[in-house]
Amino acid sequence: MTNETATKVGVTSLTYLGVAGSDLDAWDNFLTNVLGASCEKTETGLRARTDEQETRLWVEQGDSNDIQFAGFEVDDEACLLTVKARLDEMGYETELADRSQAKKYGALGLLKTKDPDGLEIHIVFGINLRPDLPFVSPAGVSGFVTGDQGFGHIVLTTASMDDARRFYQQGLGFEVSDFVSLPMGEQTLDLTFMHCNGRHHTLALAPVPIPNRLLHFMLQVDSMDDVGLGLERATAAECTITSSLGRHTNDHMVSFYVRSPSGFDVEYGYGAREIGPDWTVKQYQAASIWGHKK
Ligand SMILES: [Fe+2]
Repeated sequence: MTNETATKVGVTSLTYLGVAGSDLDAWDNFLTNVLGASCEKTETGLRARTDEQETRLWVEQGDSNDIQFAGFEVDDEACLLTVKARLDEMGYETELADRSQAKKYGALGLLKTKDPDGLEIHIVFGINLRPDLPFVSPAGVSGFVTGDQGFGHIVLTTASMDDARRFYQQGLGFEVSDFVSLPMGEQTLDLTFMHCNGRHHTLALAPVPIPNRLLHFMLQVDSMDDVGLGLERATAAECTITSSLGRHTNDHMVSFYVRSPSGFDVEYGYGAREIGPDWTVKQYQAASIWGHKK
């Protein structure tokens, strides 16, 4: 890592996510009884918590059943303005939201922009924490790995890996973790994994030119038992397990994948290794060491 990248101002975590769902009752049940997040109704949908942050996930009523926005955190207002200046210089459109709009997302400051595939991206600082209202999982999950590592990770499709990498790396400050090439018939699907904190990847990009952007989001729980119990809850709720229990080659996460009410997957895992200062970029030819069978 050069001094330049070590000191570069950028986003520090995925702090929240917004998705659209056409069946909010199913989402309420899924969040509460399968994933173990706490959930409450809003005027336009649902919002959920997995820790002391006031909101980690919004589910808005909508038929797109896809991601609506991703919120990334920066340290403070100065960092937000630095990122804005950089995005402006790179030719991306940015808009500083007013105070009431920022408040809607539980932030003191909010910058809106779009990634090259059109996804609404929020850069926020001063996110609202509620340690005075301790998070209690309604499904008895012992805890979610969040804090400095943020909400979890997302895997997005993109029509142009080069354009997407320019935006997320040069624009937002992500750094590459590693690459995974999956054989797809005679071709390969080349995935890029990126980090902005100790979490192995906060963002992965898949060069698949399809309208749906979100392939899955991931929640990391505190113990292997939380994964096993989550799998039992998903099975009992008759959810579709889209990928069996398995361990990934790159982040070493032990996880399973379950289909959400919107059709994209949620990965539910434990035990990922973390990025340290001596991290070096590697490549893999498979997604999993074992398991993750479709
Ligand atoms: Fe994942």
